[in-house]
Amino acid sequence: MDLKLNNKTVFITGSTGGIGFATAKLFLQEGATVFINGRYQHSVDKAVEKLVTQFPKGNICGIPADFSKKESVSALIKQLPTIDILINNVGIYKGTSFYEMPDEEWTEQFEVNVMSGVRLSRQLLPKMMDKNWGRIIFISSECATLVPEDLIAYSMTKTAMLAVSRGLAQMTKGTNVTVNTVIPGSTLSEGAEKFLSDVAEKESKSTAQVEAEFFTNVRTSSLLQRFASVEEVANTIVYLSSPLAAATNGAAIKVDGGSMGGIL
Ligand SMILES: NC(=O)c1ccc[n+]([C@@H]2O[C@H](COP(=O)([O-])OP(=O)(O)OC[C@H]3O[C@@H](n4cnc5c(N)ncnc54)[C@H](OP(=O)(O)O)[C@@H]3O)[C@@H](O)[C@H]2O)c1
Repeated sequence: MDLKLNNKTVFITGSTGGIGFATAKLFLQEGATVFINGRYQHSVDKAVEKLVTQFPKGNICGIPADFSKKESVSALIKQLPTIDILINNVGIYKGTSFYEMPDEEWTEQFEVNVMSGVRLSRQLLPKMMDKNWGRIIFISSECATLVPEDLIAYSMTKTAMLAVSRGLAQMTKGTNVTVNTVIPGSTLSEGAEKFLSDVAEKESKSTAQVEAEFFTNVRTSSLLQRFASVEEVANTIVYLSSPLAAATNGAAIKVDGGSMGGIL
């Protein structure tokens, strides 16, 4: 299927690894121009280098910016070229008891996970509306409705993203701009791989055993009963970004392996 993305320019926040990096690869495969991002020049350079090796003819750039720092975001916004597709992917979490998490950590997660998308959308959405074409995708999480008790702050940010995304979609009425949210479930990013191998080592088990136990004991509602691959999440992000997905607007699309339950 030709996703008709070859003349589009994409910016993906937090994309030196994980779901963002896999999404960058898929966009390059489709011929789009891709701007990736991470906090540090060295990590961005390394990720760009990897992509250039895989896609020697690809149009790839990197812009470092730390979304926990307002001034870094302002500097980024000044550097951004015209963007057709914005993927608000960056997300951080801390698994801490509600009683122990200080205000600063609530604020940091809100800044990075929610305000990153708010600030970028405020800048880029009017330009998309002027051009009468654009895509904004927010990457939420199954935690938006599952709300694990050690991840209340993170879950709050992921629920907030759903409201921001839906509100922005309503502003696009009658245009060819769409705003949607993708909701991943447990996904095998490098962080998740490290979590599995750390537990496996600590408990003298195989990673396959730790993964199986995670779904038996923790994420019991998963129908998939395994971590999704980063590519499986990226496939949905890239499809929703394409002109082919024009009739999907204001939606929250789950790639959660069924963990959130419900019919819709
Ligand atoms: N993995 C999962 O199981 C899962 C499940 C549901 C939802 N999600 C959501 O999916 C999105 C991507 O998750 P992921 O697991 O793929 O991410 P990840 O691997 O944890 O992080 C991706 C990138 O974010 C960058 N980053 C971290 N803090 C940043 C900051 N302050 N400013 C700019 N960049 C920053 C890091 O790059 P540098 O180190 O180069 O800065 C890293 O390469 C997140 O929003 C997450 O909440 C993930």
